[in-house]
Amino acid sequence: MSNSKKSSMVSGFYKLPVDKRVDFVKDFAGLTSEEEKLFSSFLDIETADRMIENVLGTFELPLGVAVNFKINGKDYLIPMATEESSVVAAASNAAKIARIQGGFKTECSKPLMIGQLQLLKLDDVAGAAQKILKHKKELLELANAQDKILVKFGGGAKDLEVRILYSPLGKMVVTHLIVDVRDAMGANAVNTMCEALAPMIEELTGGKIRLKILSNLADKRIVKAKAVFDKEKMGGEDVVNAFLESYTLAVIDPYRAATHNKGIMNGIDSVIIATGNDFRAIEAGAHAYAARNGQYTSLSKYFKDKKGNLVGELELPLAVGIVGGAGNIHPKARLCKKILGIKTAKELAEVAASLGLAQNFAAVFALSTVGIQKGHMSLHAKNIAVMAGAKGDQIDKVAEQLVKEGNIKLDRAKEIVGQL
Ligand code: MEV
Repeated sequence: MSNSKKSSMVSGFYKLPVDKRVDFVKDFAGLTSEEEKLFSSFLDIETADRMIENVLGTFELPLGVAVNFKINGKDYLIPMATEESSVVAAASNAAKIARIQGGFKTECSKPLMIGQLQLLKLDDVAGAAQKILKHKKELLELANAQDKILVKFGGGAKDLEVRILYSPLGKMVVTHLIVDVRDAMGANAVNTMCEALAPMIEELTGGKIRLKILSNLADKRIVKAKAVFDKEKMGGEDVVNAFLESYTLAVIDPYRAATHNKGIMNGIDSVIIATGNDFRAIEAGAHAYAARNGQYTSLSKYFKDKKGNLVGELELPLAVGIVGGAGNIHPKARLCKKILGIKTAKELAEVAASLGLAQNFAAVFALSTVGIQKGHMSLHAKNIAVMAGAKGDQIDKVAEQLVKEGNIKLDRAKEIVGQL
């Protein structure tokens, strides 16, 4: 059965043993027994050795799943690879609150990426810019000749823009090649096209091309997610107001905005990693976009609707792919894409943006009310219990005692383990 037909809403999921959680996901996503086995397998060394250089082994991260998500009317379980405790639970809880008012709604632009060509050593900068624009058609044809498959699927180089920039080295012309990369992240396609255009632009202008590379400020590939968070479920008007007060600091202050946006990326990065995408590209694009108007600010916006519910919106560039790259090679990335049931890169971007908004809401909600340490402490206490030598059932017992005493220290944990 397709996962869109089943509900992702489940309570007490975190209390289930791991094998029961796997059963739930298997049923939701229609996984085969072979696919189920991947959850407890490791990336094989030969594959790893082909992915990067000087391989010694592999490095594991916990893979969890966020539940309760409804996005554009469809239910999703969202795989999240992260080392940070509380993140998966917080996202699931936020999705549960958003669901009361219909869940997340998204919009996404075309998958347009920008490739840059930096042209130097020009006598006539304006003339060079004009020549490039005059030969736009031939330049786009040359770019498209590099990737016939992309063109066949409706993608390819679509436009070309020129900018004249001033620098301590003098003026330069920067050409932007705009490429529709369809379901790919696009770096390979764009970089190949840019390299192919360089000699032609040099010949046309008499200048020297230096850089020819994709821009990670993918501001033509924008996704927007929106959700209404129920006022009553949040605890009433005062809590909504407290939330908006907290949020306002992220709007006006880069010190807070950096942490606020980090909370958004806690969600986005985890699904980006789980699907084998390039999280550095996503991070770079998000933070550059947050500073697009000259001051670094919040990527999300919050306000009240007529009924006093909290409305959250998130807008950012998301250059994600579902074809090519590590996401095709890594078996767990393929598994995670199947769990998501995504059919296009656009859909993955929409899920990632919704998760980012959920994560951001959850963090600011906690910070405006109980603070975030409460949520962190029980998992932290479990880790301390394990470090103190607790095994099996002892782990929960020791952790509970530590939290009860408000003294989550290794020495005390060792004493309790000793008593047990
Ligand atoms: C911690 O990883 C993320 C938060 O700091 C985000 C925030 O402050 O909004 C909790």
